[in-house]
Amino acid sequence: FRVDRNKYQIQIPLPPKIDPTVTMMTVEEKPDVTYNDVGGCKEQIEKMREVVELPMLHPEKFVKLGIDPPKGVLCYGPPGTGKTLLARAVANRTDACFIRVIGSELVQKYVGEGARMVRELFQMARSKKACIVFFDEVDAIGGARFDDGVGGDNEVQRTMLEIVNQLDGFDARGNIKVLMATNRPDTLDPALLRPGRLDRKVEFGLPDLESRTQIFKIHTRTMNCERDIRFELLARLCPNSTGADIRSVCTEAGMNAIRARRKTVTEKDFLDAVNKVIKGYQKFSATPKYMVYN
Ligand SMILES: *[C@@H]1O[C@H](CO)[C@@H](O)[C@H](O)[C@H]1NC(C)=O
Ligand SMILES: *[C@@H]1O[C@H](CO)[C@@H](O)[C@H](O)[C@H]1NC(C)=O
Repeated sequence: FRVDRNKYQIQIPLPPKIDPTVTMMTVEEKPDVTYNDVGGCKEQIEKMREVVELPMLHPEKFVKLGIDPPKGVLCYGPPGTGKTLLARAVANRTDACFIRVIGSELVQKYVGEGARMVRELFQMARSKKACIVFFDEVDAIGGARFDDGVGGDNEVQRTMLEIVNQLDGFDARGNIKVLMATNRPDTLDPALLRPGRLDRKVEFGLPDLESRTQIFKIHTRTMNCERDIRFELLARLCPNSTGADIRSVCTEAGMNAIRARRKTVTEKDFLDAVNKVIKGYQKFSATPKYMVYN
């Protein structure tokens, strides 16, 4: 700090504000995905519309009835099943800013800073007209508290307590909603799930055949494909696949066409891609591991 001799003021520089461009935060003022871009997930879309969209667009309905809408929703299910996508679509529909933070990064990159980050994050959210805050991989911060004996977890706990504090601190009828996503709902700290915090839970599962067909169609909408590709057949060949797997198949099919110097993607490109991606994934797939709680 420096002392100004004339005015006898002491100026102490404040610690720098978080800059979303260099932090773990992604801020999208206007997310560009709509419900139509979310393949399958019909039930989940309906639930999210009811518990997030409705209170944001029509708060008066809740005021009239004298009830508080949920402040937050826990989305759980295997990775790649559309949790983030749907959250962005809700933000698009409600004309809200979308802020995404990844739990594991919050605790790894900002040792000693996690709690402050959370505070500043909510400060930023409050400065927006409407905002959806999305904590991904929240199990990294919100895992049930345990003591590892060396105090390493205190930091994680402080971050988690700050989140709970912030959740308690804003008005349920306001324009901030908090969504959290996890693959491991069984490990979450029950404090997060108390009424008035994340009191709604929406499960995301593997897409069924119809949903997988739809996901294929969504991802190929902007691709230059030959006509009459049998998407249902392709979907049948990808049992137990997530939306993210199917997106990889589509990308790989496009790569096949590029390798063959063609301008259109053929059904055979897709079939080869299924063989490569889906069969190849089975060795590495994380999905079965996450299905244990079902
Ligand atoms: C929602 O997404 C659509 C499609 O990308 C886009 O055209 C529209 O401007 C977005 N709306 C808002 C409010 O962000
Ligand atoms: C799909 O998952 C189910 C349940 O985990 C399993 O029984 C089945 O064998 C899997 N199918 C394929 C083709 O991997």
